Order: sequence, then C-alpha cells, then structure tokens
Amino acid sequence: MQKIVVVGSLNMDVVIETPHMPERGETVSGRSISRVSGGKGANQAYALGKLGGDVTMIGAVGKDAAGDALLHNLQSVHVDASGIRRIEEGTTGQAFIAVDDDGDNSIIIIAGTNGLVTKELIDEKADIIRRSDIVIMQFEIPLDVVEYVKEMAVKEGKTVIVDPAPAVPGLPEHFWSGIDIIKPNETELSILTGMDLKTRAELVKGAKVMIDKGVKNVIVTLGKEGCLMVNKEREEFFGPYQVKALDTTAAGDSFTAAFALALSQGKPYGEAIVLGQKVSSIAVTRKGAQTSIPTMEEVQTIWKE
Ligand code: RIB
Repeated sequence: MQKIVVVGSLNMDVVIETPHMPERGETVSGRSISRVSGGKGANQAYALGKLGGDVTMIGAVGKDAAGDALLHNLQSVHVDASGIRRIEEGTTGQAFIAVDDDGDNSIIIIAGTNGLVTKELIDEKADIIRRSDIVIMQFEIPLDVVEYVKEMAVKEGKTVIVDPAPAVPGLPEHFWSGIDIIKPNETELSILTGMDLKTRAELVKGAKVMIDKGVKNVIVTLGKEGCLMVNKEREEFFGPYQVKALDTTAAGDSFTAAFALALSQGKPYGEAIVLGQKVSSIAVTRKGAQTSIPTMEEVQTIWKE
C-alpha cells in the first residue's frame, strides 16, 4: 500500500442544528449545539486512517484544548500526526456550521493556526512529503503554501490530489499545472472557472477548462446526481448512491479520502470513484464531520454487492 500525506487544515467545528437557515437579518432558534473535530484536511486524514490507509498529516494547531482534541482524534485512528506543529501564540482553527433539516449546511471558518502554515513548516516536514506517494491538499491553508507543496510534490513525482475547497476564483494557470486530480463539487467548479454550470454538457465544458489549465483529471461531485470524471481521453458519469441525507458536512472530504485510499491500493480511477461515493453516501447519513466517517467494514456491510 502506498503512503499518503495530507497537507491542510484542522478545525474544531461548532455545529448548530437549526430548522432552517436564517435569512439576512433573521434570528432563528437553533435546536442544539455541539463541538466536533473537523477541518477539511483533518477530516480527510481521519477518514484515511479510519478506512485503513497509511497516512501522515502536515498542518498546525494551537497549544489549546481544541488542538489536543484534534490530535487525539487523529491518533485514535492511527494517523501519524508528526507533521502537525503546535503553535503557542495561535488559536486552533474553528468552523461555525449551521445544519438545517434537509441536512444542508452553511459554514464560516476562522483560520487561526491554519493561517500560520508556512513554507518554512513545509521545509521542516519535507521528508514526510518525500517518503509519501500521494499528496492531498485543500484550500484552508494559505494558497502560496499549497502551490509550494504542489511544486515540491510534482518535482518528486508524487500523485497530487487537490480538493479546491473553499473555492477561489481567478487562480493563475501555473497554480494548476502538474496536478493529477482535482475534486471540486459543481459550485466550486463554477467559482474556479467563472462559468455558469447547470447542465451536464456545461459541467463537462467547465471540467475541460481546468484540463486546459494543466490539471490531468477533474472529478466533479454532484451530490444526489452522482459524479463526473473528465480527462483528455474521456468523460464519464457515475450514478449516485441513493440515501437520505441527515448532514452533508464532510461529504466531499470523505469522498476524497476514500478515492485516495483506493489509489494507494493500486485500484483504477473508476473503482476509486465508486469507493468515494460509497463512503461519502454513508457519511451524509450521520451527524458531524469526523463523527460521520465509517470503517471499511461498515462500508462493505452497507453497500454489499
Ligand atoms: O468539509 C467540512 C469541513 O469544512 C468542516 O469540518 C469544517 O471544519 C470546514 O473546514
């Protein structure tokens, strides 16, 4: 099995269940409030560990209770946390998440120590990247650091997976060149390309714009509609795994992790996408970010074929 490194964010999620999202200027009575380990990077590392991958995480947390809890959670599923720096003068990243009765969410993040992940930290942990085969990143740490890691990983011949969330418009072509796989959802692809993407044909067009920018494969997750994969040779739609969603938090993170896990086991892209769909479709039936991730045994029981 190949080694995976996740370079990215760790957040303590403050989750509020609400009957519906407040409109601008509206006050809504929430049903409950809870704290759950999250952060797109940490969710991916946690999911990889829980599903049985060989994974190390690079990132930063504060020397506070949230940092302790996040590290403990990762270590509980055998994630190697030796790449995570504790920063005395910083507060661990936080996410404020409202989840409504349809399972949809709205998230506001406060970067905290995620914003203190620097090129210097990457240089200090560069051996972890060199030892890994697959490098996964998201956009909750500074983007110049994401690009720095990408350059390093491409030079070393690693498989580079970027989950471009939260999406940022107008990134230059050199940012994208050499990336093996990006995994936006349809909204993120629309932000990345500046295009209005409604129909399948438009989504394929949007994915091709990213291919022209130098990305080798684009996987667009489409929620209830399944997902789409586009590269220079082909475009393929994958049907959805139908479930009743309770909380979609970490759906994308669990997809990315399971997809990467399958690649690390030598599986082809098609099989990796199907595993991503199976895992994320289970995650959305459970509450929270890391609390929603299944084990591989659960995946095999729930989606036995
Ligand atoms: O993708 C879900 C994650 O986004 C949450 O866990 C939250 O921390 C935000 O980073």
